[in-house]
Amino acid sequence: MTSKLLYEGKAKQIFETEHPYEVLVYFKDDATAFDGQKKGQIHSKGILNNAISSFFFELLDSRGVSSHYVKKVDERTMLVKKLKIIQIEVVVRNIAAGSLSQRLGWPEGRVLPRPVVEFYYKDDALGDPLINESHIDVLGLASPEEVRYLFEQGLKINSILTGYLQTKKVKLVDFKLEFGKSDQVILLGDEISPDTCRFWDSDTNRKLDKDLFRRDLGGVEEAYQEIYDRLKS
Ligand code: TMP
Repeated sequence: MTSKLLYEGKAKQIFETEHPYEVLVYFKDDATAFDGQKKGQIHSKGILNNAISSFFFELLDSRGVSSHYVKKVDERTMLVKKLKIIQIEVVVRNIAAGSLSQRLGWPEGRVLPRPVVEFYYKDDALGDPLINESHIDVLGLASPEEVRYLFEQGLKINSILTGYLQTKKVKLVDFKLEFGKSDQVILLGDEISPDTCRFWDSDTNRKLDKDLFRRDLGGVEEAYQEIYDRLKS
């Protein structure tokens, strides 16, 4: 690729295009966990996450949720609208796992009575701490109306994805979203993939996501491929 590299993250690179309002996202195979303390590669992850994210963005678009997604350009590249990212990670949870299990003492796998929406401050140096609306307000990350919008979009996206994945025998345990502004309009950004979601097989609760890498459980590539195959089935 010859265009100018604008930004390099842990899993993706962002390149300039000739259009000022669009950028190219290149999906790498690099994987990190625990704020970059654990590093590795997941073979073909970039290809699969690009394909899986493109699939989900198209599904959401067909259900009225607009995102930065414009089109999948090639195996590892997606064309998106350039966003000014809101420094908040929106996590939606249906089943206790990960940091919610640790924080509340709920065993992994316990179904939550209703979905939980959480906000995290997107700041690597601080380790992305959990924050509430008051923190968001004093940090100036978003207005109260914008926070309400992020909350509602989180629930709407959850209901679309959960319903769809059920038909593929996949439980959506939890997932993380990022949003940004394009011309004052808030759009869904980043990616929706096994890096950013917990997916469990509906019958066995077998993990089909990045927890296999985080927890050194093996079978990571196969799990990402299986999610892709099930979406396409
Ligand atoms: P957690 O249980 O570790 O808080 O993770 C909740 C969800 O957010 C899970 O689906 C994985 C996703 N996630 C990310 O996408 N990036 C992150 O940096 C972290 C910590 C979690």
